[in-house]
Amino acid sequence: MIIPKTPESWLDVPGFNNIKHLEHLTEYIKECKVGRILEIGCAWGGSTWAILDGIQDGVSLQTVDTFDMNNPALKHHHYRGVAEKHQTNMSVMYGMQIYMEKNQRACFDHFISYHPKRSHLKKVHQMTSIEVLKNDVNWDLAYIDGLHSYENVRAELKYLKDVPMLCGDDYHPTHKGCMQAIDEFREKYPDREFHHDPFESGSGFWTITA
Ligand SMILES: C[S@@+](CC[C@H](N)C(=O)[O-])C[C@H]1O[C@@H](n2cnc3c(N)ncnc32)[C@H](O)[C@@H]1O
Repeated sequence: MIIPKTPESWLDVPGFNNIKHLEHLTEYIKECKVGRILEIGCAWGGSTWAILDGIQDGVSLQTVDTFDMNNPALKHHHYRGVAEKHQTNMSVMYGMQIYMEKNQRACFDHFISYHPKRSHLKKVHQMTSIEVLKNDVNWDLAYIDGLHSYENVRAELKYLKDVPMLCGDDYHPTHKGCMQAIDEFREKYPDREFHHDPFESGSGFWTITA
């Protein structure tokens, strides 16, 4: 039996992103002083935690994820991967137990319920990003870390073209489709400022700011 430990930072949340990535995400979020943030792809809550760390008063957050990583083979794959790295972290391992016994959404809800600024999270959409974006493109900042195919990232960026602060994961040669979609967007809007973390850091974090 795992004795649960209360999560105190994103280090206590199972996640896909590295330390540099989440630190830079928090810093970028702090630059958004007013309005609405959309997170695409929250998984178990690691990046959501980092966003809430940086969120300013008067800024709200909505997140979208299909939360469908629930077939038994996938669960076991992730459990093994996380356990290899984090077996001494009882918060992470307790979250993994929730994931195994229930599902990805239950795991996300568990972790975010402990964040001191959780009241900024106004809505969790359990659907695809495109379904949300079809009805609402009025965001001040969007973080993109959902389905990384060229077609999907291209479509997301098309909906998000008027959003002044964009950022995301996987601007990295291992995700060629994602890079291509971002590069095409940059070519269309050359006046916007582009940054990406060095490839060797493995961070994949990128920003495009109007
Ligand atoms: C790389 S993970 C996100 C990692 C997360 N940002 C973190 O830091 O831990 C990608 C997530 O995107 C979700 N996803 C996949 N396709 C999606 C789609 N079309 N729309 C929204 N989310 C999607 C998956 O369920 C998964 O949780």
